[in-house]
Amino acid sequence: MIEINNVSKWYGDFRVLTECTTRVAAGEVVVVCGPSGSGKSTLIKCVNALEPFNEGSITVDGTSVGARGTSLPKLRARVGMVFQHFELFPHMSITDNLAIAQIKVLGRGRDEARQKGLALLDRVGLKAHADKFPGQLSGGQQQRVAIARALAMDPICMLFDEPTSALDPEMINEVLDVMVELAQEGMTMMCVTHEMGFARKVASRVIFMDHGHIVEDDDKDAFFGNPRSERARQFLDKILQH
Ligand SMILES: Nc1ncnc2c1ncn2[C@@H]1O[C@H](COP(=O)(O)OP(=O)(O)OP(=O)(O)O)[C@@H](O)[C@H]1O
Ligand SMILES: [Mg+2]
Repeated sequence: MIEINNVSKWYGDFRVLTECTTRVAAGEVVVVCGPSGSGKSTLIKCVNALEPFNEGSITVDGTSVGARGTSLPKLRARVGMVFQHFELFPHMSITDNLAIAQIKVLGRGRDEARQKGLALLDRVGLKAHADKFPGQLSGGQQQRVAIARALAMDPICMLFDEPTSALDPEMINEVLDVMVELAQEGMTMMCVTHEMGFARKVASRVIFMDHGHIVEDDDKDAFFGNPRSERARQFLDKILQH
């Protein structure tokens, strides 16, 4: 579903990604972890062309991301993305937040978009909040709305960039529960997260990045059981202490 081949990227003289190669098959859940600044966000943003890259290639479901003829709005509509900060429109109700991209990008009618949004809101356990505004919801609830909003576009895969790291501890699980359910339903997912409980539960593979390199790309059990690199070992020791 997602193929990343030898991707390199520079910011000026600074090389942020170095020959990154990996594949995510349909239905796989791949967790991306690694120290701050290692290039995790940059890598997944390259997948839906939020960041350009200088070398290599990326294809999503056969569509080349970097190619000239590729329609980026169409590509982005099919690749759902959920960020650390939910980025809901503060002046719109939850229902309207869920409907707007369906109407503007997919050309769905208002009623259809509304119904679809409500069904997904129900699925993330928030149907009762349909008429509220984002500011009236907790961080965890807003993040669940952001996931529902991405799902409303019928994505073929989902990218997550630390979706729980801005949340209070008691709200992390409600968001992870939604993500676990999605994974178990067979959604193809690439998730930057340091929630290793989540990784253990649903990841097919774990990618560990350091200084712009994919240092490990392993089966989950191999990664947790016996990481190959010293750097990954140190990293795991540090985050598993908590
Ligand atoms: N727009 C930019 N211009 C220049 N350098 C950038 C830019 N965006 C990111 N970088 C640098 O690229 C490197 C990788 O950044 P990136 O955000 O991908 O890391 P990350 O692994 O997601 O880190 P974190 O865990 O802190 O989110 C960092 O050193 C960062 O400072
Ligand atoms: Mg990041």
